[in-house]
Amino acid sequence: MLGRIGYRFNQFRFGMFSVYDSADEKLARASLSDQEYSLFDQLPPFEKKHAVVVARKMLIFSVRNPELDREKLVKLGLLHDIGKVMERNSVMTKSVMVIIRFFLPGLYDWLAERGKVDPRFKRFYIHKHHGAVGAQLLEEIGVSGEFLSIIKKHDPRVEPFGPADPIELKILRQADSTY
Ligand SMILES: [Fe+2]
Ligand SMILES: [Fe+2]
Repeated sequence: MLGRIGYRFNQFRFGMFSVYDSADEKLARASLSDQEYSLFDQLPPFEKKHAVVVARKMLIFSVRNPELDREKLVKLGLLHDIGKVMERNSVMTKSVMVIIRFFLPGLYDWLAERGKVDPRFKRFYIHKHHGAVGAQLLEEIGVSGEFLSIIKKHDPRVEPFGPADPIELKILRQADSTY
């Protein structure tokens, strides 16, 4: 419990004070296609920064596991939360949603389900299912195959890790679990 509160506090602090800088931008530009980058560029700066932090952790994993596709790992880091371009949340709005999810999970799930059909709660649906939303956005620009299923399943709160799931999903979840 304390660990989860600490994680959320760090997430908030990260969102408020981290700066997406020119080195981050350079990594994103160099690693993404034009279409992928134009989606990425729609993320708010704090989400871009988070994606770059995850991508850098993926890079470290790729050095330790040279048999894995380095480019794919970095792209997974950069694009794993791409569904959040549909949320259009500020740090504050996002923090309120995270607090509701943390303290009132039943209400959060109810709002997320309502959000499927009710535009007033759509941001809750997108927040909970940003993996699936992101996979759909990437599919629309021609991304295909396993990459999409990893993006779709990257949030362990939505779906547990299965025996048939690829190692890249496990690595992504690990890289995504700290701020
Ligand atoms: Fe995510
Ligand atoms: Fe993430």
